[in-house]
Amino acid sequence: MNLPPQIAQLVELLKNIKMPFSKPKEVVGIDIGNYSIKIVQMKLSGDKWSLEKFGVALATNPDQSETTPIEKRQLAVEAIKKIINEQKITAKDAITSVSGNSVIVRYVKFPKLTQEQLSKTIQFEAEPFIPFPIADVNISFQILGDITEDGSQKMETILVAAKKEIIQNKIDILTEVGLRPVVVDVDSFALENSISVNASEEEIKNVYLVINIGVATTNISIIENGTSRVVRDVFIASSSFTKAIQRNLQIDWKQSEEKKLKFSILVTPEEKEKALADGNDEALQLSTILISPARELVAECQRSIDFYQTQSTEEKKINKVYLCGGGALKKGLDKYIESQVRIPVEICNPFSKIANPEILAAGDGTKFSQYAVAVGLATRKRGDVR
Ligand SMILES: Nc1ncnc2c1ncn2[C@@H]1O[C@H](COP(=O)(O)OP(=O)(O)OP(=O)(O)O)[C@@H](O)[C@H]1O
Ligand SMILES: [Mg+2]
Repeated sequence: MNLPPQIAQLVELLKNIKMPFSKPKEVVGIDIGNYSIKIVQMKLSGDKWSLEKFGVALATNPDQSETTPIEKRQLAVEAIKKIINEQKITAKDAITSVSGNSVIVRYVKFPKLTQEQLSKTIQFEAEPFIPFPIADVNISFQILGDITEDGSQKMETILVAAKKEIIQNKIDILTEVGLRPVVVDVDSFALENSISVNASEEEIKNVYLVINIGVATTNISIIENGTSRVVRDVFIASSSFTKAIQRNLQIDWKQSEEKKLKFSILVTPEEKEKALADGNDEALQLSTILISPARELVAECQRSIDFYQTQSTEEKKINKVYLCGGGALKKGLDKYIESQVRIPVEICNPFSKIANPEILAAGDGTKFSQYAVAVGLATRKRGDVR
């Protein structure tokens, strides 16, 4: 068919610009935790995110007994399959993340180089900062900006190194389910993203202390103006509360876990007086037991706050503490942390700014703090790879 020249030109033009109008590939954020798997799929329309699919499934034995690495991987695979089936997820691309003691995040001042130059020399430049054999890790970096130190021009850089085996483990899990791993991020940076997509233009300028309490690992970070300035993983987490109960009461893990979910940390004199007046000795006893790991967790947070404040000569104020992860739901922990660090504490809701809140009625409304990492992964811009 012969088309008039202008129309033929237009057809050619449309062919060439077809890509931006084609449907973007669906991608899911998958947080593969030691306790549970969280999956989130979101869609960006204009500047608003809407929630498409989400689900959580346990990745532990029903009695939470010890598992071998192979069993653990199988439990994760089954949990992902379960969520995919239940939520009818059709996306094939997945973004996941790693954290814990096989991941190192360091703020390093390198001599001024271009992105390309640093890419070529990163293995060599990074070696002094990484406590593992350099051949065993994947390294990635992000240049934060230029600074002058001792009269010489340097650049502040976030250096991330993760052991190849833990990255491979996550890749293997996703591949086994039939998903294509497109990005492997770090939990703390996913949290930074999650906090940023849920903050208004004004709120993003604030400084947040983010405490993501998982079963085994707690990610602590301080985010200033949308960028993490302190990133640490500590190993006082939700299981520390279970272990404290188990140790003190000499009962098994399952019973301890039940008591952890049931009893609260009593913070105010009124709460303690009420338990006394009611003759509720068990509540008083449990609170005393639970205070001990809570105190240790606060000490770790205080260490990060002190470190952050010594980084600058001007006084730096932290505006808010966000508690994320399943461990954030420990009754009374928010109040206890607030009473100790004297900064307002909020249990994070990573869906607070979504365009379609009605979808949440279908889910378990009390556990959204658990989705913080998965939301950060699901809202990663493609190409925005660390
Ligand atoms: N309502 C609740 N009260 C107290 N603790 C809770 C509550 N709900 C869940 N938890 C605890 O939260 C923990 C799981 O949190 P989460 O799902 O964030 O862990 P995870 O991401 O799988 O772990 P990790 O990041 O360490 O690998 C468990 O220890 C569980 O007992
Ligand atoms: Mg986690």
